[in-house]
Amino acid sequence: MVRELFNSIASRYDLANRLISLDLDCCWRRKTCEEALKALPPAGKIKVLDVACGTGDMLRCLRKKLGEKGISGDFYGLDCSENMLEVAKKKVPFAKLVPGFAEKIPFDDGSFDLITVAFGVRNFSDRKRAIKELYRVLKPGGVLAVLEFSRNPSVLGKLAWFYTERVVPLVGGLITGNKKAYTYLVESIGKFPHPEELAREFESAGFSTLKLRWFFPRIAFLLLLRKGR
Ligand SMILES: C[S@@+](CC[C@H](N)C(=O)[O-])C[C@H]1O[C@@H](n2cnc3c(N)ncnc32)[C@H](O)[C@@H]1O
Repeated sequence: MVRELFNSIASRYDLANRLISLDLDCCWRRKTCEEALKALPPAGKIKVLDVACGTGDMLRCLRKKLGEKGISGDFYGLDCSENMLEVAKKKVPFAKLVPGFAEKIPFDDGSFDLITVAFGVRNFSDRKRAIKELYRVLKPGGVLAVLEFSRNPSVLGKLAWFYTERVVPLVGGLITGNKKAYTYLVESIGKFPHPEELAREFESAGFSTLKLRWFFPRIAFLLLLRKGR
């Protein structure tokens, strides 16, 4: 169901993101990359996987931020939607893009120094299994950065939720012609565990939480984790 949904909106996904979030989604990805790179042990070259990479925005941001730090990288993207990957192919030709599911990641144990998942975890059909897989393919001591949406009880968070619930399905529907996809987005945020609860899910799989940070206007958050205690 999720794969069909993203296949149907792939060609207009980026435009919808930019307009709906007023470009804030780029800012959240940028900050996520910066925090993730700060948490990594010093290295000249690293291997990076972006799970649920979609149209490749996170990979593009990762390459830019690594370049600024003089670190070279091998970049991999995994996604279950072939249409999202088609768009990504043009935007991130430097990355190796692989079709597949987070619940069965097609890489060996301990392959990556850094894994990112932006707005993907909420969509996984079997989150527990996907978390185990993320743990498996990360190197011991490696960093996992999860960027997601959630509801925040602050006044700003409530305003942002009001906008998300009322405006996003209308604007998203107009841009992509698929209002259902954006109604699903709102519903999935409503059902998703709060960040502290999500952190506990990762911790029970063996991760330790390095940081939990809300981004303006308190509708998106970063959960930064390390493999191991
Ligand atoms: C909201 S988009 C996020 C895309 C991208 N990470 C970004 O920041 O724009 C969610 C993506 O997750 C992918 N996805 C959903 N469930 C998945 C799963 N179980 N395994 C792999 N990819 C999945 C979808 O195909 C879609 O491209």
